[in-house]
Amino acid sequence: DASDIEKGTYPFYMLKEIDEQPTVMRKLTQEYRDDHGKVNIDLNLVNEMADSDRIYIVACGTSYNAGWAAKSLIETVTQIPVEVQLSSEFGYNMPLLSKKPFFIFLTQSGETADSRQVLVQINQLGFPSLTITNVAGSTLSREAKYTLLLHAGPEIAVASTKAYTAQIAMLAILTQAIGERNKTNTSFDAFYELSIAAAGMEAMVDEKERLSSLVEQYLSTTRNAFYIGRGNDYHVASEAALKLKEISYVQAEGFAAGELKHGTIALIEEGTPVLGIITDAKTGPHTRGNLKEVESRGANTIVIASEDLAREDDQVILPKVHPLLTSLVAVVPTQLIAYYVSMQRGYDVDKPRNLAKSVTVE
Ligand code: G6P
Repeated sequence: DASDIEKGTYPFYMLKEIDEQPTVMRKLTQEYRDDHGKVNIDLNLVNEMADSDRIYIVACGTSYNAGWAAKSLIETVTQIPVEVQLSSEFGYNMPLLSKKPFFIFLTQSGETADSRQVLVQINQLGFPSLTITNVAGSTLSREAKYTLLLHAGPEIAVASTKAYTAQIAMLAILTQAIGERNKTNTSFDAFYELSIAAAGMEAMVDEKERLSSLVEQYLSTTRNAFYIGRGNDYHVASEAALKLKEISYVQAEGFAAGELKHGTIALIEEGTPVLGIITDAKTGPHTRGNLKEVESRGANTIVIASEDLAREDDQVILPKVHPLLTSLVAVVPTQLIAYYVSMQRGYDVDKPRNLAKSVTVE
């Protein structure tokens, strides 16, 4: 309940929750690590998931974006294919399922009706399910076969921030257990990498002043904006754009950088902000090429790049983390950008119009 949680000196819960993210990473590690440094998760869950031939992640909104952000991580470490699905689509248009599917419901609140109606169907079909949620005892937690809690503390702001990063971290830890069980994991050490990521997130939340002035310079009056990236950077771009839409009412789109030229580039005008996310050495040069294309059509480009790939005039530099966990650090400046756009325009950051924290109607 919001009244029980103090905002302290924070003007809005959202800023507090953005700041809490490094602590949430460390808390999760404590919760799921045993005294020998091994993953401490129900073995029945680990075995059942490890024996599946396909993992289906079902979710809505920011949780859906978290599913995408974790897909390549899960696939790399477990060698099990992952599908990420929108609850509201999957429930009514279920694709042909694999022989031994395993279902993961990502839901901050544990109450989202769209996701619950899929879980009801999955239970009827007799397939195993796991709910990853921030709320103990929530409906989706009670009705799924297994539950993992995010331990992120109550998330009060309607726009989700710490639940997104906690979901990715939780999936990293779970993935580690599957990878060990199936001997598919060669080098990824979730607890170590999450501690590096937590430090990186800490550095990013300290960039508030810089991000606030970046917003003043490029985003103070814009009606639209684009985030672009490839691979995991594309998935962060989707979440970054959602955040801008939700709380600052800027019409924003997250785009696969290479796809921009196949249509969306028609929307670029003089002064349109295009934010490029670059954390992958393989695709970074291509995304830079796409930024050049929009720049020559008048766009104001802003580059968010990890330090090993950054160039001198890039505006936001991300600390280097494991390539499968870059979303954890890359998302933080985008959360802060959305926050400052909303705040500078005088909106109620925590309670955007038309939105509810948990949506219990289909
Ligand atoms: C609502 C919220 C979103 C959230 C989505 C899914 O629409 O406004 O911020 O991402 O529901 O919520 P869940 O609790 O299932 O993660």
